[in-house]
Amino acid sequence: MSDAPLAHLDDQVEELLRAIADLASLEELTNAEPTLVGKRSVLSSLQKSLGSLSPEERRDAGARLQEARRRVVEALEAQRRDLEARARVAELDADRLDLGDVVLDAVRVPLGAGHPGIVAITQYALEEVFVGMGFRVEDGPEVESDWYNFEALNMPPAHPARGMWDTFYLELGEPETVVLRTHTSPTQIHLMEKAVAEESLPLHAVMPGRCYRRDTPDARHLAAFHQIEGIVVDRGITFADLAGTIDTFTRAYFGPDIDSRLRPGYFPFTEPSAEFEITCTLCRGEGCRTCSQTGWIELGGCGMIDPAVFAAVGIDAEEWSGFAFGFGIDRCAQMRYQIADMRALIENDLRFVRQFS
Ligand code: PHE
Repeated sequence: MSDAPLAHLDDQVEELLRAIADLASLEELTNAEPTLVGKRSVLSSLQKSLGSLSPEERRDAGARLQEARRRVVEALEAQRRDLEARARVAELDADRLDLGDVVLDAVRVPLGAGHPGIVAITQYALEEVFVGMGFRVEDGPEVESDWYNFEALNMPPAHPARGMWDTFYLELGEPETVVLRTHTSPTQIHLMEKAVAEESLPLHAVMPGRCYRRDTPDARHLAAFHQIEGIVVDRGITFADLAGTIDTFTRAYFGPDIDSRLRPGYFPFTEPSAEFEITCTLCRGEGCRTCSQTGWIELGGCGMIDPAVFAAVGIDAEEWSGFAFGFGIDRCAQMRYQIADMRALIENDLRFVRQFS
């Protein structure tokens, strides 16, 4: 019975360790500390009881007790560090500005997908159809000289056909020599000049872009609008190629139940020329306000490239022939999405715009 005072030491230590692990707050720890390791603790009373042992027994028992105390104190300190860390986290949590909510609110700010979005959607879809048919997509300037917008297109100064386009002139250079392009046809001229310079004919390209006319906006017209021009210059091109291209495009973009038709027309830069119309998608050909009761909507013009245009850019009309077309992208959007009044495209009414975002 020599070390009888320490007979239950292991169990007592286990119990202390469990009690330490159960401490749930720093406050609890501070309150429990005297009974766990202090003067009022089991370990201290065991210490006192060693007095009754012989000197050798006391040395061994003292060493055991010291080791037991070391474990308990260590466990208590570890628990203290853990509780302190948890208290710090809780404090930081309470202080935290909840950025999660702030960021989400910022994300919810409506970004809009305004009217450019609608025309862009249409432009990209049109480009895709034409790229699928073997055309390349090209770009051209919106500010043009008189030569590109009119003269090279077979309209010398004072040509009466110039009146077909109500033109915005810029105050640059000689009066009435610099214009906001009234159509995308001048880009044809740029591309043909480049192809001649680079000796890279044949040429198959579409050219989308913004155009300007001094028009009063109405259900089918805007003063700033978009066209997509197309050009093919190759050997042996005929009007049948043009008609086939227009028809293939119409069915690919508007669907198989929309018809296209070509009506004789006049453009100084094509001969013969035609106006290109499709079934009005709003009334399916019945006649409505948007199509002025005709059942048809004019999308644009087309024709075989006039030899005078080839001459202006230095292409040999004996060797090459070609066709060109140009039609309204906004008009395509109007027909594709059945927009009764085209002015909706620029009014920025969110109820309209949101349908396309
Ligand atoms: N540029 C003409 C217009 O805007 C359309 C067109 C393009 C006609 C190409 C023939 C060939 O009215």
